[in-house]
Amino acid sequence: MTIKNNYNRRQFLQSSALALATAAFPKALLANMEMGTVKSVATPGFNPDVELEITAIKTAVPIFSGNKTHVYKYESKLLKGPADTVQALGDIHLGARLNFQHGQKIRVFFRNQLGEQNIIHWHGLHVPQKSDGHPMYAIESGESYVYEFEMLNPAGTSFYHTHTHNFTARQVYKGMAGMITVSDANEKKLELPQGEYDLPLVIQDRTFDENNQLVYVHSMHDRMLGFLGSTVLVNGQPNKEFEVKSRAYRFRALNGSNSRIYKLGWDDGTPLVAIGTDGHLLETPETKPYIMMAPGERVDLWLDFSGRAVGSKLVMYSLPYQGLMPAMGKMQQGRGRGRMGMGMMGMGMMSHGGLAQGAKFPIATFKVTAKVSDSPKLPQHLSTIKRFTDADVDNASNPIPIALSMGHMSPQINGRSFSMDRVDATEKVALGSHKKIRIFHAHSEGGMGMMGGMMHMAHPIHLHGQQYQVVSRKTTHVNEENYATVSEGFLDKGWKDTVLLTPGEEIGIIKPFEDFAGLFLYHCHNLEHEDLGMMRQFYVS
Ligand code: C2O
Ligand code: CU
Ligand code: CU
Repeated sequence: MTIKNNYNRRQFLQSSALALATAAFPKALLANMEMGTVKSVATPGFNPDVELEITAIKTAVPIFSGNKTHVYKYESKLLKGPADTVQALGDIHLGARLNFQHGQKIRVFFRNQLGEQNIIHWHGLHVPQKSDGHPMYAIESGESYVYEFEMLNPAGTSFYHTHTHNFTARQVYKGMAGMITVSDANEKKLELPQGEYDLPLVIQDRTFDENNQLVYVHSMHDRMLGFLGSTVLVNGQPNKEFEVKSRAYRFRALNGSNSRIYKLGWDDGTPLVAIGTDGHLLETPETKPYIMMAPGERVDLWLDFSGRAVGSKLVMYSLPYQGLMPAMGKMQQGRGRGRMGMGMMGMGMMSHGGLAQGAKFPIATFKVTAKVSDSPKLPQHLSTIKRFTDADVDNASNPIPIALSMGHMSPQINGRSFSMDRVDATEKVALGSHKKIRIFHAHSEGGMGMMGGMMHMAHPIHLHGQQYQVVSRKTTHVNEENYATVSEGFLDKGWKDTVLLTPGEEIGIIKPFEDFAGLFLYHCHNLEHEDLGMMRQFYVS
């Protein structure tokens, strides 16, 4: 099946010219975009500390015994810079883990050899428009793109993934993603676990057919609800088992799934300790009975196996929850072959091998294989976060709306779908300002069927550019019984770039729009919703 991308660059140029003619599109904005010109040459004056080449390819990886699985992959090669910048994670679909330092100047030569359009976005990084992977810069197979940016982010965990509009969900599903870490001087002083004790925990759900090949959604109904797979992969592998020593580890959890929301927790009720959220360390560690993780979110976990006997096993689960999906959504899925190990028949288990949103299932097993006497101490102060208040914004009484609703078979924002050449009045933001933004569900209560049901979904809302702070989370009309199954799992105290809005909630955030003018996307990170147009853009000038 070939899917036509409605937003290729050439069409974009035409439509922008059209929009300009009708004066709907600010001229300055067009100039800023340089008419969508792709940046294919390195800037002579930019002297990078780190230079990478990343190539988008089709390949096949061994996920199960037997046939290899055909995937798409970002392959990285270090051209210049510290040797540990590119850390391969093995023969899996995920790209290498990219380890950067705050302050580094970075240049990435991106080469597309995929056979279809592609562009990389650095989710969580504060970079200029031209290096942000806006879909207007999607390049054809055979073309190249040059990214250049300085690492302004402090220590934290981010990720890179494809952002080719209309193709994002399918391309991410096929593999196009990887982890980014950033370190800085403050973090180094904390002496957090490093090297073999600092590990990725990339969680993704996929569905495979009998030949070990990926199966993706086809029906509109599935896309409206978002893809849910029947097999959970951790770092690209099913039934993942980590062999650990009896000491503390830093596990960087990243929900790289298209639309599955995880409720991370130990089965025996041991609480989880988080030391970071999205692109930043927390101010102080947070202890939670469980942690909700929506697509796009990251949580730095402090997992301490000290005192555990050699041979003991701990299983991290996605614990059961309710109400983040319309009731009808529970009937979804179930094609392909369920490949879950133990726990497969847990609650929420659907017939035909599918796994419902909110089902309980194991994510990974941690097996203590060695006893060590020494373990790093959990620092009680991790970073300094200046809390924003209304006094820091220029629109306290008039927050920018991000109203989530349903249009004709498409989830929308402020009643609109994504259009590359459109910016609304509420989306024009002064460069250097801090804005209060209100994220809420804009729909009447009730409603049946696809439209009504859709409204009772959770949506992870991601804003490109600088990280923001959650300043309020109000429950305006939640179902208390459902809400009680998720409400203790939000990490709202740190810096965020993706926040989960559950049904009946309203979230207030404050976001700085500093340093870079241009177009910056915001969208639902349920990738099926994003591709269906639940995306808009801010024009910062
Ligand atoms: Cu992770 Cu606009 O995306
Ligand atoms: Cu992003
Ligand atoms: Cu959504």
